[in-house]
Amino acid sequence: MNPNRPEIVNTVKDLRETVSSWRKQGLKIGMIPTMGSLHKGHLAIVEQLQAHVDKTVVSIFVNPIQFGHGEDFSRYPRTLQTDTYKLQSIGVDCVFAPDVAEMYGDGFTTNINIKGLSDILCGASRQGHFDGVATVVTKLLNQCLPDKVIFGEKDYQQLQVLKRLVKDLNIPVEIVNGTLVRDESGLALSSRNSFLSKKERAISIHLNQTLFALKETALEGGDLRLLEAWGITKLLKSGFRLVDYLEFRYDNNLDLATNLDKPVRILSAAHVGKTRLIDNILI
Ligand code: PAJ
Repeated sequence: MNPNRPEIVNTVKDLRETVSSWRKQGLKIGMIPTMGSLHKGHLAIVEQLQAHVDKTVVSIFVNPIQFGHGEDFSRYPRTLQTDTYKLQSIGVDCVFAPDVAEMYGDGFTTNINIKGLSDILCGASRQGHFDGVATVVTKLLNQCLPDKVIFGEKDYQQLQVLKRLVKDLNIPVEIVNGTLVRDESGLALSSRNSFLSKKERAISIHLNQTLFALKETALEGGDLRLLEAWGITKLLKSGFRLVDYLEFRYDNNLDLATNLDKPVRILSAAHVGKTRLIDNILI
């Protein structure tokens, strides 16, 4: 265990003081935005970024504006103390944990919308979700002004939306792609996995297995639209309650893929019980 507890700051003012003292020393700063309830996937991307910077700030903020009505904002796990211990064990320098009033003070009204990219896939089933993500990430980047920021490929559409945002708004930060971390069964690690019962967990494994099976068949030359339909049926038969989407999309722009001439990614979101899971793989 690293003996140094990360500095915990709750206000933008304190965050800026900490970061500007590092900056005066010429240190490179990395930021890892999270909503907490940290698992090995989060810690792996923190360590991935640590290799490129001198100091790391992990933000922990369950962002209300990226949750829709009836979604799991209130039951989203909040485990700040355990999270801080985990971050201490890997030598994180600062934890930024603002409350809702600090982030969205009186009269807050700005909304950032990345047209098109925000409306497909998860954006179609979670309207306004990516506006909430883009708005909070813009704020976090402006509050911290890091040299580098990392977002995981687990949330592949989110990564693409945020790359577009940073480019379009000339935000001076470099985005690093965080490698997707799975458990031994292949299930993508997620804070929401803690909601799964034993039975639901057994069903969940079919999500990644179906994607890997689709990849093999697509490489053998299967028709992508037929494969999508086959995959959705397979997930429903395996016990998923609802499949929001399962689609082959081009890796670079998330347009619907018609063949495998360019790199293609299979992305899916499906509900098991009350829990919504997402996954994706590159072909
Ligand atoms: P959260 O779900 O907490 O994820 C924080 C970061 O960890 C994201 O970049 C996500 O892609 C990454 N991550 C989560 N599980 C991962 C896994 N199994 N392997 C690799 N990386 C993983 O994503 C969010 O929070 C929020 O939308 C946020 C960007 C913080 C804005 O509120």
